[in-house]
Amino acid sequence: MTDDGFRFVHLTDTHIMAGGTWRIRGGDVEFDTDASLRRVVEVVRALDPAPAFAVLGGDLASPDILHRERTLTAAEYAPSYARLKEILAGLPCRAHYMMGNHDNLEALNRALRPEAPVDVPCYYGFDHDGTHLVALDSHEVGHADGVLDAAQLAWLERDLSAHRDRPTIVFVHHHPWPLGHAWMDTMPLRNGAELMDILARHAHVSWLIGGHVHSEQVIQRGALTMLTTPSTCIQLSKTTASGAHFDPGPPGFRVVDVEHGRLSSFVVHVR
Ligand SMILES: [Fe+2]
Ligand SMILES: [Fe+2]
Repeated sequence: MTDDGFRFVHLTDTHIMAGGTWRIRGGDVEFDTDASLRRVVEVVRALDPAPAFAVLGGDLASPDILHRERTLTAAEYAPSYARLKEILAGLPCRAHYMMGNHDNLEALNRALRPEAPVDVPCYYGFDHDGTHLVALDSHEVGHADGVLDAAQLAWLERDLSAHRDRPTIVFVHHHPWPLGHAWMDTMPLRNGAELMDILARHAHVSWLIGGHVHSEQVIQRGALTMLTTPSTCIQLSKTTASGAHFDPGPPGFRVVDVEHGRLSSFVVHVR
């Protein structure tokens, strides 16, 4: 990478749950998601060149996993976002936050986006050194799968049209088409086809980066490259028709280098 380029990192599915550990489905392993994110942050701090910013790709906090029997309030999410904020204070760069299906919008906004009204959806665009970046909010309250509502799709169309002159990267938590994971494919972005239609009309969008699937994927559709990034905690190793199998780590994250509008990327696993 020359002086003309920049680097960012995509950290996703951090699943911080203050006061508890993640008991992995189908096993008796207790996984400490705080500890795994701290290890990731240490590795990010050592990157050379350093990242200009981080995108946090959703499922940032998930105390709901400790209380599956009921819906938690924003106040009950607050300690987990506070813990996340404390751990991410160790990053060498600023962070942009996204919603996942486990997140709570009000608690996320209060803790991580204090400049935003507490009920404003968490989608937005920003620019860095001539590249445009768009973070979408595919969360739907009470649902494990995701959707982009009509207002957000209309905003996306306007935002992409207004940045036609710029190479653009779009981020979304849920995967927009079947990935071949039997269990994960029960909770995709339900209207992924509508998102794909919009992106197809905007040739300056060449990359779409997602989380949610706790695994690394690279899928090419026409001119669009879709990447998914492993979780900073547990990883999905395989799925069957009846469920999923998770492994306790290794923690992972994605590094993206942008140079003259061209992107290259690799995934780092922390062992
Ligand atoms: Fe997740
Ligand atoms: Fe998710």
